[in-house]
Amino acid sequence: MAGGAVVSATGGKDYPGKLTMFVFLTCIVAATGGLIFGYDIGISGGVTSMDPFLKKFFPSVYRKEKEDTSTNQYCKFDSQLLQTFTSSLYLAALIASFFASTVTRLFGRKWSMFGGGLVFLIGAALNGAAENIFMLIFGRILLGIGVGFANQSVPVYLSEMAPARLRGMLNMCFQLMITIGILCANLINYGSDKIKAGWGWRLSLALAAVPAAIITLGSLFLPDTPNSLIDRGYDEAALGMLRRIRGTDDINEEYNDLVVASQESKKIQHPWANILKRKYRPQLTMAIAIPFFQQLTGINVIEFYAPVLFKTIGFGSNSSLLSAVIIGLVNVLCTLVSIFTVDKLGRRKLFLQGGTQMFICQVIVGTLIAIKYGTSGEGHIPKTYAAFVVVFICIYVAGFAWSWGPLGWLVPSEIFPLEIRSAGQSINVSVNMLFTFAIAQAFLSMLCHLKFGLFYFFAGWVVIMTIFIAFLLPETKNVPIEEMVVVWKRHWFWGKFLADEDVHVSGKAVEISNGKPKGAGV
Ligand code: BGC
Repeated sequence: MAGGAVVSATGGKDYPGKLTMFVFLTCIVAATGGLIFGYDIGISGGVTSMDPFLKKFFPSVYRKEKEDTSTNQYCKFDSQLLQTFTSSLYLAALIASFFASTVTRLFGRKWSMFGGGLVFLIGAALNGAAENIFMLIFGRILLGIGVGFANQSVPVYLSEMAPARLRGMLNMCFQLMITIGILCANLINYGSDKIKAGWGWRLSLALAAVPAAIITLGSLFLPDTPNSLIDRGYDEAALGMLRRIRGTDDINEEYNDLVVASQESKKIQHPWANILKRKYRPQLTMAIAIPFFQQLTGINVIEFYAPVLFKTIGFGSNSSLLSAVIIGLVNVLCTLVSIFTVDKLGRRKLFLQGGTQMFICQVIVGTLIAIKYGTSGEGHIPKTYAAFVVVFICIYVAGFAWSWGPLGWLVPSEIFPLEIRSAGQSINVSVNMLFTFAIAQAFLSMLCHLKFGLFYFFAGWVVIMTIFIAFLLPETKNVPIEEMVVVWKRHWFWGKFLADEDVHVSGKAVEISNGKPKGAGV
């Protein structure tokens, strides 16, 4: 089709070109960056439930667990050091994500992924060979730096390579890889726990090198995105790349738009100050609220500590790890549901349905545990009863996997106009890492103090976030990014933050009547 951009069904721009095999493959390779994040999430809970690991690095936790049978079940694993092992990674990722945004901008997305993968590889080696707690935590910090770089660069890379209309689906491949990484880690823990000689935990930690090698080597073969090439002054290369990834010579319109967008964004000297302007209040609020709420669903309590939690309710070590595998599988399969429905059902329906499902399950799980352990934490949970708990945890994870999991990354990535995109993305990643860290650091102590009430605590947050979505998040399904401003202007609450002259679509002002934008079909 000649003649440049056409107007899409929503009134927005749709550039010529198709999803080429080349783009598909590059996106798959880039999305493997999600594997290293997922592998980390899944692996720590498993190794901290293995006795030889606890004996070597956390002997006091081990003793408490084994010898003191009369202690409150809720407090069995309460250890600051054990929590620091899990959480140190996310603190490192939080700090790294700030540096990563500069590297990603100056050197391109590819080198950010390569650097992240390499640092992660060294961290995996250190962890697998760890002889003392220092090597263990230092290794975790290096893994965290790797994750920070990958989480910053991969979603940006995917969004820039993908044709606009498939952006949501390709972006969600990142979340799919996260869940596959978690599942692989669960499976490896299950197998390595069976190694009688007691070095299974080393295998679990060292195998993180496999996903790291995939993204490190893979990134060497990845081309840089046209957006990044233009930004760094390689205009010819950008033109060639755009032709190649769109599979057509008819790319002038998109190329020109990218050049204009790059020039415009270079005019912005202080993107961090810019994002504080009143007209960006809706986006800023979402960049903070969405990752914050995503973590307050309590998902990482399950991801990090499921095996420990299952041991708490009386499972043996291996059946705890097997339950984690089942949960991991549910997570992957239900993420696929989201990938295939998000552009039809829309974001809001998934958020609202998933939230309701998670709330119901959390209340049930909390109550099931309360019935057996009460507030004293003493008691015994029979096997069939424990299986019920696992079933409701699975239904809870399913709800997360088709709502807050993928949407927690997708929605923030599609609502920022270019001039605040990099700053917005950094805020999103850092808030996510900050609260991932907080949950990892606090969970075992919270379980000890809040007891079964911990599940009600997260259920309460799920109610708040579901109400937040119902009233404050407009539907962004099928809305081209450059028209997103119209969505905010139309919104009953956010509309007040935008003056009429703030509403531009593709550089042209949109006519406003009765305080609402006219025309554009969003
Ligand atoms: C979240 C992680 C979580 C994972 C579970 C991701 O979207 O950011 O914190 O562990 O989903 O699948």
